[in-house]
Amino acid sequence: MNKISVRGGRKLQGEVNISTAKNSILPIIAASILSGDKCVIDEAPMLEDVFVISDVLRSISADININEEANRIVIDTSNIKDDSEPSSNLVKMMRASFLIMGPMISRFGKFRLSLPGGCNIGTRPIDLHLKGFSALGAEVNVGHGYVEAQAKKLIGNKIYLDFPSVGATENVMMAAVMAEGETIIENAAEEPEIQDLGKFLNNMGANIIGAGTDTIRIIGVKNMKGTTHKPICDRIEAGTFMIAAAITRSKIKINGVNEEYLKPIIAKLTEVGVKIALDGNSMYVDADSDLKPIDIKTMPYPGFPTDMQSQMAGLLCTIKGTSVITETIFENRFMHAAEMKRMGANIKIDGRSSIIEGVDKLTGAEVRATDLRAGAALILCGLAAEGETEVTDIYHVDRGYVSIEKKLQGLGADVERITG
Ligand code: EPZ
Repeated sequence: MNKISVRGGRKLQGEVNISTAKNSILPIIAASILSGDKCVIDEAPMLEDVFVISDVLRSISADININEEANRIVIDTSNIKDDSEPSSNLVKMMRASFLIMGPMISRFGKFRLSLPGGCNIGTRPIDLHLKGFSALGAEVNVGHGYVEAQAKKLIGNKIYLDFPSVGATENVMMAAVMAEGETIIENAAEEPEIQDLGKFLNNMGANIIGAGTDTIRIIGVKNMKGTTHKPICDRIEAGTFMIAAAITRSKIKINGVNEEYLKPIIAKLTEVGVKIALDGNSMYVDADSDLKPIDIKTMPYPGFPTDMQSQMAGLLCTIKGTSVITETIFENRFMHAAEMKRMGANIKIDGRSSIIEGVDKLTGAEVRATDLRAGAALILCGLAAEGETEVTDIYHVDRGYVSIEKKLQGLGADVERITG
């Protein structure tokens, strides 16, 4: 069982480099299906989720070469056939696998795959994805644990998303790029990763206007070609390291960030009392001072990201006073609370809100990563806790962070990975 052991109480110092974004590269790898030409992704993050979605594409005969030393992925989907069906075990392993649905019906006019599972943070429905496919003229059937869509021809349409779902926006964009005529997605998700996907698709030959805003126009094109792309920086990894500095009251430098994507995180940490200064793609974080409690509400971008909620909860557990975090995106994203309470945190859950009373100190304990961001948050709590913390089920964290222990060691943290 892999776990990470943290001996807390140390200040951090020095600098850390941020990898490119998990939630950008996953839809981009899926989008490479749209052309039989090769696509190349440079500075790719070597993450478990990247390996899983690559295996999903390999299970439908794509050839994917991952060069871990060069952080380069070369994707050749020329051998994918219209009757391809991915391994259901792989699809169930990772919900983002469902992002291949849009590209497959766009290129082949039909596709069948296992329904993605829910996960610990929520049921994760796909109704908005399917509503979008149907609006483009696909016949969609769900049954026996599978979803099937087919359309002789996809026709552009106006689609209103009841909720600005990231995945549904991405899947419908990819389904619409070669549809006949114009598609307009209204109430679209505005996350930076959507903008990055739009850039990748346009470099493949698509005609997309407004990706990254709440209204996206897609004028169908005849075909798509291969391209080379470097994904944007990972704003959630950057935010996680900002909180590593804050929870240890340290001063560190974070390289490879984009201030625009970090605005909601910068705003809330500044409100806590953390001093943040930008210099191009580098950020100086100075948390060596008294910090104060705040209230937070997670919202779709450009609101405060749900993927930073657990990490922020860990920080607020160490700040005297009462803080309230309201989670509006997922229905079950407070599983970190029970684990943090094992470390002496004072958190009460009331429906969609968590009420946090800051404590003088957290104490090391054996805790379990229940999901990706909760696991990262528990490692951060370990940095501040008195004594040793062991975070088990660390595979959750490896899905979204490249060598998190090595990056923390580079900042002077007393952290090690224990395998076996
Ligand atoms: C993406 O998930 C991210 N994953 C998540 O990051 C992130 O938390 C989430 O967006 C919100 O920002 C990737 O990009 C791979 P949604 P996604 O569709 O697309 C409801 C991480 O830690 N909904 O925006 O699945 C849904 O139930 C992960 O990196 C519907 O009701 O998120 C949820 O309440 C975790 N019907 C809300 O929308 C649908 O058809 C947000 O989901 C789709 C979604």
